[in-house]
Amino acid sequence: MKTNNFRGRDWIDAELDYSKEEWETLIDVALDLKRRHALGEDQTHILKGKTLFTMFFNQSLRTRSTFATGIQQLGGFHVDLEPGKTYTPARKGYEVPYKTERISDVARLLNRIGDAIAIRMYGPPAHWIYGFANSTMKEFAEYAEIPVINMECDKFHPTQALADLITIKEKFGTFKGLNLTMSWAYSGSIEKPRAVPQSVVLAATKMGMNVTLAHPEGFELDPEVIKKCKEFAKSSGGSFRIINDFDEGFKGAHIVYPKAWGSVYCFKYTDDEGKIIKENDLKKAEEVNEKNKHWRTTKKQIELMDKDGIYMHCLPADRGQEVDDDVIDGPRSVVIDEAENRLHAHKAIMALLMGGRL
Ligand code: CP
Repeated sequence: MKTNNFRGRDWIDAELDYSKEEWETLIDVALDLKRRHALGEDQTHILKGKTLFTMFFNQSLRTRSTFATGIQQLGGFHVDLEPGKTYTPARKGYEVPYKTERISDVARLLNRIGDAIAIRMYGPPAHWIYGFANSTMKEFAEYAEIPVINMECDKFHPTQALADLITIKEKFGTFKGLNLTMSWAYSGSIEKPRAVPQSVVLAATKMGMNVTLAHPEGFELDPEVIKKCKEFAKSSGGSFRIINDFDEGFKGAHIVYPKAWGSVYCFKYTDDEGKIIKENDLKKAEEVNEKNKHWRTTKKQIELMDKDGIYMHCLPADRGQEVDDDVIDGPRSVVIDEAENRLHAHKAIMALLMGGRL
């Protein structure tokens, strides 16, 4: 296991920037830390004296609690720079006098005083402009040498994808030969990022799984993500297909991951210079959403899976809309294991990127 390639690196587009071998190392380190923690090992030497800054522009339970707990278990310290209580970091052109502060100034200061900056941003704080939040994180990275960690943007949620892979490795011991379906599911909320499905299909094809992406028309993912999935599947020996049929995605699947994400009409799109070239259309978004209420996981779909198949969801779940209670609380569901694994995933990321003594 080579762990010296990680120190100081950013974790923003991690599915694209980290190799398959590096993802395997992160999974191994996370599982090792999890086992050692369960045995009662004191791990506070690993990041003793190091400081993690977090900035949540959106709500969070799992990500917030597991980063804070994780850095504490590793002996470091967590400072929550709550946007609105600090001067909210802003990009040029989006500044408000005495309310915001230019990112270049914020990032250069944090770089002098701490050891990593972790950011969550999508949706309203990113003006629903697709890619705005991802670019914001990259602007932090441009001005800070310490690692910038993506805790979910409008394109990717790589810490979630790592926890998902850890969970799959625990349940099946391998990735090879597994059929994973990432499926859209109905929710009463039409405005959701597509970070989770994009990260999951990229990470799963990278690891060599047979990946099916299932969604109704209008819920297509970023074409660049689809292109990469095809490339990853080819080089890893896995496969990738897209279908528009909910039940079909469950047939023979070892892993199903049905969750809601925003339709293509939720987002505004810009050109390379940041000029808006397509506005969002919430009326159309509501229309395509309501047409597909039947994309809800019930026992009927679960019976179509492989006999050892598991149900995954990143949580929070919209019960009664995305999924029935007897599925998410049923024997195939691994959602609480998956959520717990956020802790171990984040500890591995912080330990490796922040120069931990493992
Ligand atoms: N899955 C996830 O990221 O959960 P939170 O929004 O609670 O952090």
